[in-house]
Amino acid sequence: MNSMPELAYVNGVFGPVCEARVSIEDRGFQFGDAVYEVIVAYNRKPFLLDHHLRRLRSSLAGIALAFDFEACPLEPIIAEGLGRCEFSDAMIYLQITRGVAPRSHVIPAGMKPTVVMTFKALPVIPDELRRTGVQVITTVDTRWANCYIKAVTLLPNVLAKNEAIRRGCYDAIFVTAAGEVRECTSANLFVIQGGIIRIPPRTQSILHGVTQGYLLDLVASLAIEVREEPIDVPSLRSADEVFMSGTASEVLAITTIDDLPVGNGRVGPITRRLSEEFIRRTRS
Ligand SMILES: Cc1ncc(COP(=O)(O)O)c(C=O)c1O
Repeated sequence: MNSMPELAYVNGVFGPVCEARVSIEDRGFQFGDAVYEVIVAYNRKPFLLDHHLRRLRSSLAGIALAFDFEACPLEPIIAEGLGRCEFSDAMIYLQITRGVAPRSHVIPAGMKPTVVMTFKALPVIPDELRRTGVQVITTVDTRWANCYIKAVTLLPNVLAKNEAIRRGCYDAIFVTAAGEVRECTSANLFVIQGGIIRIPPRTQSILHGVTQGYLLDLVASLAIEVREEPIDVPSLRSADEVFMSGTASEVLAITTIDDLPVGNGRVGPITRRLSEEFIRRTRS
């Protein structure tokens, strides 16, 4: 083990890693709303730094995080960190988050990004491993596929919600490349056609909402038929009523989708009934 102190940098301040802190309301912590680079330095010189910074700019642009490189150039901070730390071969971890704000998928205006770096000893690959090589397995690529897990890696949800807001809407509905309707960015979907409620199959691809479960019990008690089956975009668009459900949204009617009215463009009777019943039960 290396006993030399590991160095951190947080928003302009250097100090030991064990004392470095960011707010629990940092969007990096809350949503994974952040991008990063890992850079090595050999003999105190960062290796391929330009390439890393180019990819960082591309990642920042990819999540629409406007970072002012002129106001906060990173090269001098990296150089200072390498000067201050005691490792001539170092591993630099660099993360830029969207900054600190009260938790909300909606990104407030005027965010100040958080810049975090750590400078640690470059881990040594044992000679033995270089000599023998390593064993690996294959695995199904499930990255971002397990949406039933209420994980904090919410960057896709954050970006979709903010795109909806940018386009003057309240929320977005996730649809697969094959055109299958899934859910909203923080709510489940109920689609009503001919008096029958349809919900997307509760597979690993959507969050199994607690509110959704509560409403399914409620609609059963009201003897409304429910079908759990794949829903495509044309049947979503031609539905009589659509609403979202969630702990925060409760029962909230969706009256336009992609600028087209759902049904007659007003809150429909089944949605209104469930919404009123939900409020009656929860507020009494
Ligand atoms: C992606 C997603 N779907 C559905 C829901 C609704 O779940 P619940 O009713 O448990 O709040 C949420 C809640 O945050 C969510 O984030």
